[in-house]
Amino acid sequence: MSRILTGIQSTNIPHLGNILGAILPAIELSKQPGNNSFLFIADLHSLTTQKDAAQRINSVNSVAATWLAFDFDTEKNMLYRQSRIPEVCELTWYLSCFTPFPMLANAHSFKDKSERLSDVYTGLFTYPVLMAADIILYDAEFVPVGKDQVQHIEITRDIAQKFNHQYNQEIFVLPQAKVDESVMIVPGTDGQKMSKSYNNYINIFLPEKELLKVVKTIVTDATHLEEPKNPDTCNVFKLYSLLADANQINEMRANYVKGGYGYGHAKTALYELILAKFEKPRNRYNELMSNTNLLEKELQIGEAKARKLAQEKLKLVRSVLGF
Ligand code: ADP
Ligand code: TRP
Repeated sequence: MSRILTGIQSTNIPHLGNILGAILPAIELSKQPGNNSFLFIADLHSLTTQKDAAQRINSVNSVAATWLAFDFDTEKNMLYRQSRIPEVCELTWYLSCFTPFPMLANAHSFKDKSERLSDVYTGLFTYPVLMAADIILYDAEFVPVGKDQVQHIEITRDIAQKFNHQYNQEIFVLPQAKVDESVMIVPGTDGQKMSKSYNNYINIFLPEKELLKVVKTIVTDATHLEEPKNPDTCNVFKLYSLLADANQINEMRANYVKGGYGYGHAKTALYELILAKFEKPRNRYNELMSNTNLLEKELQIGEAKARKLAQEKLKLVRSVLGF
């Protein structure tokens, strides 16, 4: 049985890039018989950048609703809010007393972010210690992350090792980063990588009219409707190919090449495919977002299980530390 854990920042509504690049692969991984997945919403981490409470509540709900809409199994696995397990903050303090200052000062992510900010808060600096607590509190073995987070996993291992060494016991498991090199890069409406930072994303949960409007903004070249087009340089075709089956892709490719098929036609086909492919998750997402009691219930199942494990671990840590 492998214990897999990952945190998702709650700073926006998950877009098509997040869904295809991170959420669906993680759900596949969680379904493998030997795996037990811990998935949490890093709402405490989000406070480093997002101060507005209403926005936070909305994005926490939206992230949770997305995972549930794509059938993340909360019976077999765990879905929880980081902030609902207060033990993580206590552990963060203990760990901070085993974290060498220069290790945090040299973290790439801190350097990059702090250079771009006018006010640099301590929370941004100690961010990796909270992340270490998130992971080792639950004895996680594998942590799927993007390349930018690998250094944080190395920091986690260093802290855990220092602690174990100090008390001459294997209190904490040393986690391993799991970086998927084969992850697809989903292009945004402007052809760059889809990202909330570039404002080029497709929110598949939008009402139909608004969704169509966004799909229509996908940038294409000026080739006239009658002329043949190159599918391999077209963003609409790229997005369509990520969602369609082989027959649908071949059909659209043939339409591009033969001419008489406009980008408007391709965009309508993409829009219709999004609606067809995501009909169930769209309905489920909207149901959960309009009935947050349902959402709350699902989250509390995971939080009860996570809290129990966290309390057991903290009991051990306190006794080792003499508290
Ligand atoms: P954003 O770029 O919108 O801020 P994040 O950095 O929060 O997205 O990414 C969250 C997860 O979604 C990461 O695992 C990341 O690899 C994945 N992801 C984000 N954008 C894309 C994309 N365009 N294509 C594939 N995966 C993506
Ligand atoms: N820092 C991660 C990110 O920005 C989110 C995160 C917080 C996380 N705690 C974690 C990821 C623990 C993995 C494990 O993407």
